[in-house]
Amino acid sequence: MLTRRAFLSLALLSWSVTGLGFEVLHDYSGSTFFNGWDYYGLWDNLTLGNVTYLSAEAATQQRLTYVNDAGNAIIRVDNFTTVSEGDRRNSIRITSSEFYEYGSLWIIDALHLPYGCSVWPAFWSKGSHWPNDGEIDIIEAINLMPNNQMALHTTEGCVHNTTAPQTGFNIDNDCGTASGCTVGMSSPNSYESGFAAAGGGVYATQFDVSGIYMWFWSRPNVPDSITSATANSSMNISSWGPPTASYPTNAYCNITNFFSAQQLIFDITLCGDWAGVPGTYDGTGCANAGPNNNCYLDNVVGNGSNYDEAYFEVAYVRTYTTGVVLPASTATSTSVASSSSGSQTSTPSRSQKSDAWREHGSLEAFLAASAVAMLAGCLFTLA
Ligand SMILES: *[C@@H]1O[C@H](CO)[C@@H](O)[C@H](O)[C@H]1NC(C)=O
Ligand SMILES: *[C@@H]1O[C@H](CO)[C@@H](O)[C@H](O)[C@H]1NC(C)=O
Ligand SMILES: *[C@@H]1O[C@H](CO)[C@@H](O)[C@H](O)[C@H]1NC(C)=O
Ligand SMILES: *[C@@H]1O[C@H](CO)[C@@H](O)[C@H](O)[C@H]1NC(C)=O
Ligand SMILES: *[C@@H]1O[C@H](CO)[C@@H](O)[C@H](O)[C@H]1NC(C)=O
Ligand SMILES: *[C@@H]1O[C@H](CO)[C@@H](O)[C@H](O)[C@H]1NC(C)=O
Ligand SMILES: *[C@@H]1O[C@H](CO)[C@@H](O)[C@H](O)[C@H]1NC(C)=O
Ligand SMILES: *[C@@H]1O[C@H](CO)[C@@H](O)[C@H](O)[C@H]1NC(C)=O
Repeated sequence: MLTRRAFLSLALLSWSVTGLGFEVLHDYSGSTFFNGWDYYGLWDNLTLGNVTYLSAEAATQQRLTYVNDAGNAIIRVDNFTTVSEGDRRNSIRITSSEFYEYGSLWIIDALHLPYGCSVWPAFWSKGSHWPNDGEIDIIEAINLMPNNQMALHTTEGCVHNTTAPQTGFNIDNDCGTASGCTVGMSSPNSYESGFAAAGGGVYATQFDVSGIYMWFWSRPNVPDSITSATANSSMNISSWGPPTASYPTNAYCNITNFFSAQQLIFDITLCGDWAGVPGTYDGTGCANAGPNNNCYLDNVVGNGSNYDEAYFEVAYVRTYTTGVVLPASTATSTSVASSSSGSQTSTPSRSQKSDAWREHGSLEAFLAASAVAMLAGCLFTLA
């Protein structure tokens, strides 16, 4: 039966094919991968992990970020320094200097993701003020978890209780809580040793006024539209199938009220207020990692030989846009949620920004940006 949703989608579909491909904005790859990122250069005062995030100069010099012989970017934890009790281990946190607006699409092709006891990596995005401008967790897991989790973090008032098609399963529905609205993945090889053993895979995120959609494909299942893409070809997402996690704008969460333009971030912390929490640490495969059942003492302290797998190997990150540029700031400040698993601590709330939408946005732009996502949604509704 043709549902109302499908009908609406079809109406938009006929209209959306008038040139709504995604055009490349930035290709981070090869020898220029690390151009366009800012290094944190400070200890992890955000998630209270036992690491110091190096500056660009130190990271290059110590080879915690570099491009390997295969032309892939390596982002890793120091596995060669002996750390004494009371000290931190060196690691990396880099943030794209570019902010990505609504209507954008981010694709990461990776061969290896960091894992191991105490290891807490993430590839994610956030707006300029956390949590008011939103956070999108694309790749995030800890310790020896076999699977990745996706999530949104927002201020209070965004609930993910949609029935929109997604292949993942909802774990937490309230995006305004400390844990965020998490979607678990049952697809094999999304993280840990399985990810690398399958040859890695691709994660894609569509950041749109119509919603936020994330996909994962293990290497054998990466769609042709992605495997055949070059650094500058446009992207057509219509054959991608249902997202792994779907967060459509609806009555329970209007995405534009909770998100502004996003910066992309890679980081790897150790222990800290998710991976290192007693109960969580030993509950994610690390109870027997050392004599102390303690994240810091049994992992961070010592010669670092347990961090040989604590690295990202990334073929590229490509960002795209529909070309429909919407206002950078459309998020609305409400209360500031408390942070614990969030990757930042809270910042003061800002003034209402929804008026900016009315001033600079247009219904046409809203519909145009919606159409691509709806197109994808439509195919599953009909299937
Ligand atoms: C995307 O691909 C679909 C199916 O192959 C096609 O119908 C559609 O016209 C394409 N869209 C664009 C913008 O090229
Ligand atoms: C390591 O992390 C633990 C738990 O967050 C914290 O109590 C301790 O002070 C940290 N130590 C160092 C040296 O960072
Ligand atoms: C979705 O969440 C809202 C707000 O918490 C609630 O009122 C509504 O009943 C929920 N709907 C479903 C289908 O769970
Ligand atoms: C696209 O990029 C390739 C290299 O990846 C280059 O050879 C080609 O000239 C580029 N095409 C355009 C239209 O920029
Ligand atoms: C979401 O908010 C925007 C801006 O306030 C508004 O234009 C749009 O109609 C809202 N969408 C829904 C589905 O409520
Ligand atoms: C590093 O420390 C571990 C555990 O303490 C030990 O098993 C390993 O042999 C050490 N490696 C080197 C190269 O010293
Ligand atoms: C660190 O790990 C890499 C693999 O990620 C490995 O090639 C290298 O030998 C390790 N270094 C030391 C000192 O163990
Ligand atoms: C982290 O430290 C920097 C430099 O001191 C400071 O500007 C920033 O506010 C701190 N962040 C948090 C969340 O404490």
